[in-house]
Amino acid sequence: MRSRLVSQLGQFGHDSIEVRSGHGSTLTCTDGTSYLDASAGYWNVSLGYSDPALRAAVSSAVACLPAAHLYRRLHEPASSLAETFHEVFPDVTERVLLANDGSGAVETALRLAVESHHWRTGRRPSRLLVLDGAFHGDSITCRELGGFPARGLTASFRGLDVVRLPREQPANLGMWFEGGDVAAVLVEPVQGWGFHVIAPGYLSNLAQLSWASGGLFIVDEVATGLGRTGQMLAIERSGVRPDLVVLGKGLTSGWAPLAAVLAGPRPAAWLRGRAFEHGRTTAGHPIACAVAEATVRAIVDRDLCAAATAMGAQFRARMAASARRYGLQIRGEGAMLAVDLKQTALAAEARDAARCSGVLVGQEGPTITFCPPLTTPPVEVSLMVDAYHHATLQVFASKD
Ligand SMILES: Cc1ncc(COP(=O)(O)O)c(C=O)c1O
Repeated sequence: MRSRLVSQLGQFGHDSIEVRSGHGSTLTCTDGTSYLDASAGYWNVSLGYSDPALRAAVSSAVACLPAAHLYRRLHEPASSLAETFHEVFPDVTERVLLANDGSGAVETALRLAVESHHWRTGRRPSRLLVLDGAFHGDSITCRELGGFPARGLTASFRGLDVVRLPREQPANLGMWFEGGDVAAVLVEPVQGWGFHVIAPGYLSNLAQLSWASGGLFIVDEVATGLGRTGQMLAIERSGVRPDLVVLGKGLTSGWAPLAAVLAGPRPAAWLRGRAFEHGRTTAGHPIACAVAEATVRAIVDRDLCAAATAMGAQFRARMAASARRYGLQIRGEGAMLAVDLKQTALAAEARDAARCSGVLVGQEGPTITFCPPLTTPPVEVSLMVDAYHHATLQVFASKD
């Protein structure tokens, strides 16, 4: 395949596919080959590629208002989406901010945390706490927060130290907060890189300590939110009500670019009567808002959280024997699971083997990942999990 496009996520190679069309959980390529997509695009096509409710939402938005912005002006699809967030997430949604993508929404949340800190405490914050191995996006700022800084560039946090906490709760956790003036703790309940699950007790301790140090507690649910882990928000299992929740990826089921920050009572108090000058020309685009509202309603109405839990159970059951036999760790929650094959080369081999059997599996470093559309019918889930099982056996059997 020849392309003028710059390869942005991994190299385009002789094995890259060029996709032409999608239906349900199936993608068809320009050479006529079809695959079951067990990665739901990049973990975002939660309702598959041809959902009639989403198609109808896009069509009516296009017919009614194909373009609008949110600069000193409202539009109905954005207002309606904000009301839907409030209805579905009443505990964490006093106000809503919209962005084009997850990275932009994380940056919006950070600015809110820093600017509101001074208002709440009368002091400039000095620290921002994140977890080891985090991934919060690909902008220069977000790269700096995660484990993958942009080479040759560093973000300027204007005096804010980024402190990295271990992924598992350290014995001396309180020490990391000594001195106060924390702008925020920013965490993913299940980390996008490697699908490490952060213990609920640790999350709740981080929230309490952040609040005691004057900071906000921000959860990045770009990958985990909206049903993916078997709950509407993965943070629910910790019983914590975060100050800010960042949503993206599955928000529009991948049909349009959109991300959001849900702001709870404390940041909302700061926002009251205030213009927060943080906007992009197309953030909150009407077509994206319309398809997002249809997506959120479908996840609730069709109980796709339960579907995610069932798919995850099916995957774990099928993979249990090979995981035991080869000492492999299965990590994650709901329909967001990773099998750690210990070596990147083995994971790449397994990914290619699954593809030969008609299933596209995700691969990041030494893990292969399972994140199918939440609407995938059980018979297709079985085909997917069989492919993971056989690919894993094939890779390890050849090394026995
Ligand atoms: C947890 C998390 N946060 C933020 C992002 C960034 O989202 P986007 O790629 O839409 O900018 C990602 C993307 O993978 C993610 O997994």
